[in-house]
Amino acid sequence: MPSRYDSGHVSAQPLAQPLELHRSNRIPKNRIIKGPTAETMAAWDPKQRFVSGIPNEKHTQLYRRLAEGNWDMIVTGNIHVDFNFIIRPGDLCISPECPMDGERFIMFQKLAAEAKANGSLFIGQLNHCGRQILVGMGHEPISASSVQLPTAEGMVYAQPRSATKRDITRVIEQFADAATYLEKAGFDSVELHGAHGYLISQFLARDTNLRTDEYGAQTEENRLRFLNDICAAIKKRVSTRFIIGVKISTVEFQDGGITAEDSRSVCIRLDKASMDYVQLSGGNYQDFGMRWDNGSTQKQEAYFLKSAQMAMGGLVNRNIKAFLSGGLRSVGNMVKALDLVDGVVLSRPAIHEPRLAEDILMGRVPGALRPLSVLEDDAMLGVMLTHSKIRQIAAGNDPLDDSDPAVFTHWRKDMEKWLQKVQQGDDLMVFSGVVEYTGPMFPYGTRRAQELNL
Ligand SMILES: Cc1cc2nc3c(=O)[nH]c(=O)nc-3n(C[C@H](O)[C@H](O)[C@H](O)COP(=O)(O)O)c2cc1C
Repeated sequence: MPSRYDSGHVSAQPLAQPLELHRSNRIPKNRIIKGPTAETMAAWDPKQRFVSGIPNEKHTQLYRRLAEGNWDMIVTGNIHVDFNFIIRPGDLCISPECPMDGERFIMFQKLAAEAKANGSLFIGQLNHCGRQILVGMGHEPISASSVQLPTAEGMVYAQPRSATKRDITRVIEQFADAATYLEKAGFDSVELHGAHGYLISQFLARDTNLRTDEYGAQTEENRLRFLNDICAAIKKRVSTRFIIGVKISTVEFQDGGITAEDSRSVCIRLDKASMDYVQLSGGNYQDFGMRWDNGSTQKQEAYFLKSAQMAMGGLVNRNIKAFLSGGLRSVGNMVKALDLVDGVVLSRPAIHEPRLAEDILMGRVPGALRPLSVLEDDAMLGVMLTHSKIRQIAAGNDPLDDSDPAVFTHWRKDMEKWLQKVQQGDDLMVFSGVVEYTGPMFPYGTRRAQELNL
């Protein structure tokens, strides 16, 4: 029998309560959200970028499975708003050049129909990565200022240039266009990716924003102007029922990075700007912070609880809803998180068990499946394994069981072969970097049926 996270007998009832979103007047059905996980399965052609980023049948299969899971909201992986800034081969993209008809639009419509089939709200996460892009992937990267991301673990990031006013206006329009496109395609919402060191947070953080103009870092108002302008442009273009949320990092760990104090002002402003929700996360490419020794504890699970508490501290009688993301695994700690926020976001656990929200709400399980202990605090392996699992679900199989040492050993061998392929010089521009698991496969649903006697 697999082992699960368990923090004692706690009723999941508080997680089953519907939630009212103030601005859009929408009522998600419960409090458990499937967080964004990049799918990396879309079309990709570096020579003809306009055919890149189109969803396909693998995406519809993945979201069909997630739709069965009774999540209150399902958030896509990041959808880039510019063909020249697709962060990795296989990510989704909607650029202003994309017409609202044809294959891309039809596939986004299909995706929305699948994901919403059982009443979950479907959210497209919009992103511009700015400087956080590898050399060779981006075309003249822009950032708040020309500060290059340091090389890490052999990854060399492109040298960005400081965005001109024209660039800023164009990016704002790109976000607004993509939001309009997704609303027309049947999505309920967009979530702006303002976390994890991407372009929006490059404007928020003092180490990446050295500007002296009205988008500069000297005042809180200036640092927030870029995000505010994007929110305002989207609000002008979408209907009042269309939900707008923002994911932010409540803390970064490098000198000059975003502090919990900074994120407190971001939350206050997002509330004032009538956004529907803020998703509280943390970290960036320099340090994801996805571990239980970053000031959080394994006992409370949530990686960013402390900074999220600070971020929420300035919100009195708030209308904006807040969701906590990162590290949550047991029902007890999810319920406890509701003392601070309105909902909990599960990302890796949702891919490992696409029906986890339903099983929690029905009281069938006390928490998520527990992987091998070596994986619990290894963010990089966790991300790579999750990519492999996404592929398996999309192909109609159960995701691999990383609580089983034999399965993990097999996957590691697959990973070593994949690494060799990368090191032997497979062209980054065409190579889609996901470890394909070659061990025994089981039809989707086998493991759950066995464990829960269904
Ligand atoms: C494979 C993978 C892909 C991810 N892609 C995204 C993404 O596209 N956008 C985003 O905001 N976060 C992304 N994340 C981060 C998650 O949304 C989440 O913040 C992180 O995994 C911590 O939550 P968890 O402990 O519930 O997994 C990704 C994480 C994984 C593992």
